[in-house]
Amino acid sequence: MPRTCLGICASALLVMQLAGCKTNQPGKREAAVMSWAKHKMFIRNKSQKNPLQDNGAGIADGKEAFSHYCAACHGLDGQNTGVPFASRMSPPVPSLAGKDVQSYTDGQLKWIIDYGMWPSGMPGSKGTLSDEEIWSIVIYLRHLPPAGSLGEPEMYTH
Ligand code: HEC
Repeated sequence: MPRTCLGICASALLVMQLAGCKTNQPGKREAAVMSWAKHKMFIRNKSQKNPLQDNGAGIADGKEAFSHYCAACHGLDGQNTGVPFASRMSPPVPSLAGKDVQSYTDGQLKWIIDYGMWPSGMPGSKGTLSDEEIWSIVIYLRHLPPAGSLGEPEMYTH
């Protein structure tokens, strides 16, 4: 008798645990682990410094390049404004003004833009954009305007 009881109790416990897990949203925990791993391990180039001046001209150049190569997915403001599919991509397109992204070093941001994020939809730009364009985009990322202030990318308004 104790044996069957143990068996039943054990499976009941397992079911309860599984059910419990669902309400605990394992997805969120996984996302936190991924974010930690990305910041600490995968993304290289942590200590490289931006060779460009962080000034108005740098921001303007970066904004220009960003509007051509990044706005289709990230919005003109880097915060997904007007991008119809941003939340439906897997993983979703993040706000570039958010803490997760802003806590990368300039060198790490350069690396992300160079190589993209595999296997998501974020493409690499090395070869398409010059190093200077990419560094200017890094400057722009540090000075993103308030969400929505630049309107929607033209391609989605026609
Ligand atoms: C085709 C759509 C697309 C384009 C174009 C695109 N991105 Fe992304 N980007 C994404 C997606 C999707 C993610 C989320 C990737 C992830 O978390 O794995 C992302 C993530 C990022 C991140 C954050 C990475 C992280 O670890 O959180 C940065 C920074 C970024 N993009 C910058 C840019 C810049 C700068 C450009 C233009 C040079 C650009 N992206 C072009 C779709 C795009």
